[in-house]
Amino acid sequence: MASSVDEETPLIEHQQSQSQLNKKDAYAKWSIISGLTLFVGLVVSVLVRIPFNIFTYHPLFMTGFIVFVTEGVSLLQPTATDIEKKRGLGYHAIIQTISYLSAISGFSFIFYNKVISGKHHFESFHGKMGLFVFIYLFVQLLFGVSMAFLPRQIFGSVDKAKSTWKYHRVFGYILLVLVWTTAQLGVRADYMYNNLYSPHLIWLHWVSLILVFSGLYGRIRFKKWGIIRQ
Ligand code: HEM
Repeated sequence: MASSVDEETPLIEHQQSQSQLNKKDAYAKWSIISGLTLFVGLVVSVLVRIPFNIFTYHPLFMTGFIVFVTEGVSLLQPTATDIEKKRGLGYHAIIQTISYLSAISGFSFIFYNKVISGKHHFESFHGKMGLFVFIYLFVQLLFGVSMAFLPRQIFGSVDKAKSTWKYHRVFGYILLVLVWTTAQLGVRADYMYNNLYSPHLIWLHWVSLILVFSGLYGRIRFKKWGIIRQ
């Protein structure tokens, strides 16, 4: 009897800790979705107060980019089994491609808007950081596509390509922080800030940041980083 309890215990414990982990992931997922919804709502609340013109497409596409780039990371975080990882990778690739197309559109519209209004490019801190993030994004995408779809051609073998996944992961999180920082500077640019319904609403952007990043943190598997064993 005692030995059967001993044999069963680890399995039950494993199932319990797995269901706790699933619950934590679900809370974290909703935290991210709430943060993103708040962010979208705040940006749209400004856009409906200003005349619709070429500029409007910049925050619109960049908001789309931010939603997709964040969700594209979040969906991949808890994947554990080979099937989950394979399926997750497929969705990640599709969503990050959409996010990249949104970023190209958002970038093109603001660049064109500056051209037609005869203004200088990349003058503000937001503009400079935006340019840096845009280039970083291209390199990250290229790295991801090479690892996932051209492992033999670029790295020599699938195993060698897989050994670089950890760099794509770390650089991906750094990129995500830079993307959100750039967006936060964008929503504080004069034209956006001055058209908020009330300047006090700007603190809600901090709430959206906390919701998104606490959610992302909650879904991280440090085991995948090789930092701890789970
Ligand atoms: C929804 C969030 C965003 C809002 C509300 C926003 C808003 C603005 C505003 C008002 C400007 C014109 C003023 C200035 O030059 O600073 C601008 C420029 C710019 N934004 Fe954003 N932005 C957002 C997200 C982003 C992101 C995520 C990126 C980068 C990937 C980005 C890249 C740029 C660039 C490069 C410029 C300058 C373009 C040039 O000087 O030709 N923005 N943005």
